[in-house]
Amino acid sequence: MRTARYRVPLGPASHTATMQLAWTLLACCCLVLSAAGGPSKDFCLQNINSSVKPGFPKTIKTNNPGVLKAARHTAERFNNCTNDIFLFKESHINRALVQIVKGLKYMLDLDIGRTTCKKTRHPSLDKCDFQTNRTLTQTFSCYSEVWVVPWLHKVTVLVLLCH
Ligand SMILES: *[C@@H]1O[C@H](CO)[C@@H](O)[C@H](O)[C@H]1NC(C)=O
Ligand SMILES: *[C@@H]1O[C@H](CO)[C@@H](O)[C@H](O)[C@H]1NC(C)=O
Ligand SMILES: *[C@@H]1O[C@H](CO)[C@@H](O)[C@H](O)[C@H]1NC(C)=O
Repeated sequence: MRTARYRVPLGPASHTATMQLAWTLLACCCLVLSAAGGPSKDFCLQNINSSVKPGFPKTIKTNNPGVLKAARHTAERFNNCTNDIFLFKESHINRALVQIVKGLKYMLDLDIGRTTCKKTRHPSLDKCDFQTNRTLTQTFSCYSEVWVVPWLHKVTVLVLLCH
């Protein structure tokens, strides 16, 4: 019985140990950077002593509802940033990572394609089909980072890089 009781906390305990090792490694990296004239030691210590330690990014299924929402926000942001007559929307999510940072930060590798919906009409992207006319089809490969704070109903597109 005692052995069984003792074993229960082993999982989380070893996880903590792993995290501590990881943070130590990070600290070492920072010190190396510092020696090489990178971020100062103070900067590193400040980050390491943060009350909220971010988790490491983890792979998440590309059909996860949170991923799909983040992809849609990416497309909306893309549309806000372009002068195209047509709206674009996410056509394929190639890879998704999620990290816990005071909420969730999604990192997406996705394709965004031109639809037949005109921007001026403000339709819901759900109803927009992709262009089939070959002169109008266009797809961008994008990387985006979308930060979601569920308890504040806040969604921010932190990074959006397309080519
Ligand atoms: C870490 O931060 C807390 C509060 O922000 C402070 O009390 C503590 O002394 C700090 N620890 C180190 C090692 O700087
Ligand atoms: C796009 O722009 C509209 C109007 O300016 C704004 O309401 C909306 O929040 C923006 N969306 C994104 C994802 O930036
Ligand atoms: C495709 O789009 C081009 C440019 O708008 C247009 O000139 C052409 O007629 C379209 N082709 C078809 C088959 O709709």
